[in-house]
Amino acid sequence: MLKIEALHAGYGSTEVLHGISFEVPRGKVVSLIGSNGAGKTTTMKAVSGMIRPKGGAVLLNGKDITGCESHQIARLGLAHSPEGRRVFPTLSVADNLTLGAFPRFTGSRPRGDVLADLEQAMELFPRLKERRAQLAGTLSGGEQQMLAMARAVMLRPEVILLDEPSMGLAPILVEEVFRIIRRLKDQQVTMLLVEQFAAAALEVSDYAYVLEGGRIALEGPAAKLKGDPAVRAAYLGGAH
Ligand SMILES: Nc1ncnc2c1ncn2[C@@H]1O[C@H](COP(=O)(O)OP(=O)(O)OP(=O)(O)O)[C@@H](O)[C@H]1O
Ligand SMILES: [Mg+2]
Repeated sequence: MLKIEALHAGYGSTEVLHGISFEVPRGKVVSLIGSNGAGKTTTMKAVSGMIRPKGGAVLLNGKDITGCESHQIARLGLAHSPEGRRVFPTLSVADNLTLGAFPRFTGSRPRGDVLADLEQAMELFPRLKERRAQLAGTLSGGEQQMLAMARAVMLRPEVILLDEPSMGLAPILVEEVFRIIRRLKDQQVTMLLVEQFAAAALEVSDYAYVLEGGRIALEGPAAKLKGDPAVRAAYLGGAH
């Protein structure tokens, strides 16, 4: 499980996160909801080691990983599917996915069967299966987005951070992404989710935190927040 205690982080001298605390229990899906610029991506970056926290603590299964390098954190089993598309453009889809498993070979976690996991990922993401030999750089934007998510799954992570997995996707692929999130949840994968479709995110989540201006403004079981009039008005478009 992932536990964040009084986390401070930002860029240069600008502090974006002003001491946030939250947790993602094992096997649960937790959503972070908030307006543009609230600090959701910054939170994920500080947790996965893409930026160094300025204060507070990040604990993965009780181990303090605050300030560790991102490759060390990946080895410990935390996968981050970042906002935007980060794939290796000159490698094939299959090679991108295989590389996602690489940290399993340099850490102390079980290596497992990478080829079997590759086939499983292809089943989970049929779009990628059809394009397994295609160079990642020639995939459409939406397909690259799915590849980034599939690559995170290839780590067989203890915890997976999904930052806007449906961004830029056509409605049919958005549905596909949520279907995949549900499948991962059924497999007891622990997830921290940030999604522009907050209502759909709450639907698949167990618990959620509302981030406002780098502070946790509200938290509660996802079903409860979904029915909260203030949350509905501010984040769910009122109509969902
Ligand atoms: N690399 C950076 N350098 C300086 N400031 C940054 C950087 N990245 C983000 N910020 C600032 O930090 C604040 C929080 O940004 P962040 O990306 O965490 O927001 P977010 O909640 O993910 O928003 P969105 O919903 O638009 O993705 C914003 O004010 C943003 O301008
Ligand atoms: Mg963001």
